[in-house]
Amino acid sequence: MNLHLQEQEGFEAFRHAYRAAIKEVRTKIEILSEDFAVRHDYNPIHHIESRLKTTESIEEKLMRLDKEISIASAKENLFDIAGIRVVCNFIDDVYAVADMLTSQSDVRLLTEKDYIKNPKPNGYRSLHLVIAVPVYFLDGCEEVFVEVQLRTVAMDFWASLEHQLRYKQNKDISSRVDIELKACAEVSATLDRRMQKIFDDLNKMD
Ligand code: GTP
Ligand code: MG
Repeated sequence: MNLHLQEQEGFEAFRHAYRAAIKEVRTKIEILSEDFAVRHDYNPIHHIESRLKTTESIEEKLMRLDKEISIASAKENLFDIAGIRVVCNFIDDVYAVADMLTSQSDVRLLTEKDYIKNPKPNGYRSLHLVIAVPVYFLDGCEEVFVEVQLRTVAMDFWASLEHQLRYKQNKDISSRVDIELKACAEVSATLDRRMQKIFDDLNKMD
């Protein structure tokens, strides 16, 4: 077996399938968001990001999982080659968007990890879904996996800064930093709950 995915047959088609799946799911979410805005005069989505996992990162993860470095193995074992992040305004929006997406008849929900109800020990919060969507090509239809991370603006703010700070590791202060970061995650979760309450109270009034 070749070591590098690029050298293997079907590599371009493999990348194309995941790029197409990202477009499909992004479009689904954009349509839902516009429909929501039209009906409720409110848009639950702050912004959407997407990324295709780099080939180096796919190979590195397959190696880490002790799996074969092949296109078939990547398709079978990795669920985050196509990644979409949906950043919502309020906590309830996260669940509303997740429900609207997974209730579509051509979206198959494979796994759901709710790190909002059960945050990671470091304080990380988000709702992670792995879905499978059909993508149509010249020679037929293929089901493709897409990882969808849904979170609020506050959760996104924390996660992106935590990610940056992780690269500035300093052994002497790392445990203090971990404690402080976790405390910031709690403050941010409190902020989310308070903002949700303001939103709910205002809606009760109209
Ligand atoms: P991976 O091998 O990284 O895919 O781990 P996993 O399959 O156990 O998935 P997990 O649910 O832990 O989430 C994976 C993705 O969520 C990561 O690639 C990040 O984008 C995000 N994530 C998970 N934990 C953290 C965290 O502690 N901090 C930040 N900033 N992001 C996180
Ligand atoms: Mg991942």
